[in-house]
Amino acid sequence: MEVVIVPDAAAGGEVIAEAVVSLVRRRPDALFGVATGSTPLPVYKALAAKVRGGVVDVSRVRVCQLDEYVGLPAGHPESYRSVVLREVVEPLGLSAEAFMGPDGAAEDVQAACEAYDAALAAAGGVDLQLLGIGTDGHIGFNEPCSSLASRTRIKTLTEQTRVDNARFFGGDIDQVPHHVITQGIGTILEARHVVLLATGEGKAEAVAQSVEGPVAAVVPASALQLHPHATVVVDEAAASKL
Ligand code: GLP
Repeated sequence: MEVVIVPDAAAGGEVIAEAVVSLVRRRPDALFGVATGSTPLPVYKALAAKVRGGVVDVSRVRVCQLDEYVGLPAGHPESYRSVVLREVVEPLGLSAEAFMGPDGAAEDVQAACEAYDAALAAAGGVDLQLLGIGTDGHIGFNEPCSSLASRTRIKTLTEQTRVDNARFFGGDIDQVPHHVITQGIGTILEARHVVLLATGEGKAEAVAQSVEGPVAAVVPASALQLHPHATVVVDEAAASKL
């Protein structure tokens, strides 16, 4: 596991956007796995600036989603599909056809999970999976004690994660869904390169446990220690307990 310490979130965004650029130069139709939350936004901003500046041609790049809320109505602004379309697909000038994600509104959620795992494999697998990290060490929506071999499946959110994410729902925890679909930890580990970005003091403990603690299901991000090509990009605040 490679750990890169950068001065601040913007520098982290720049470093990771550069990694995406170099991937796309090697593989123009790369499958880029994107994460939601606040942390990855500087990556998308830096990448969109490079695209606008003609630094890289992303017209053949494909984008796939890491996780999704279950049960939000189609088009809800905080569904992760809406967020990825708004924050990644549109700013990069990609078409909606270049984008794939699990169907959080499916009647048979389990079948939707299996279909998504199969679709990722049929697409040739994820080339670079970007991750954030929850304050409890979760990746995607794999909450503590998720199996390290898990596949895409339905999960129930912890109270802590619902509290953390309430800010996206006007601060009202009652609006935060209880259930989600998430790529499993086993699914995430199949990406050819996994890049985790963590910024801010609030992530320092989770980062320390993930990078320096034992590999354990209670800290889902510690599973990245098992990956042959994992990069953890942290700002100085998130690195403060390393
Ligand atoms: C959610 C997402 C995760 C993300 C986490 C942290 O739980 N499912 O993918 O890493 O939030 O979000 P933030 O970056 O806003 O702290």
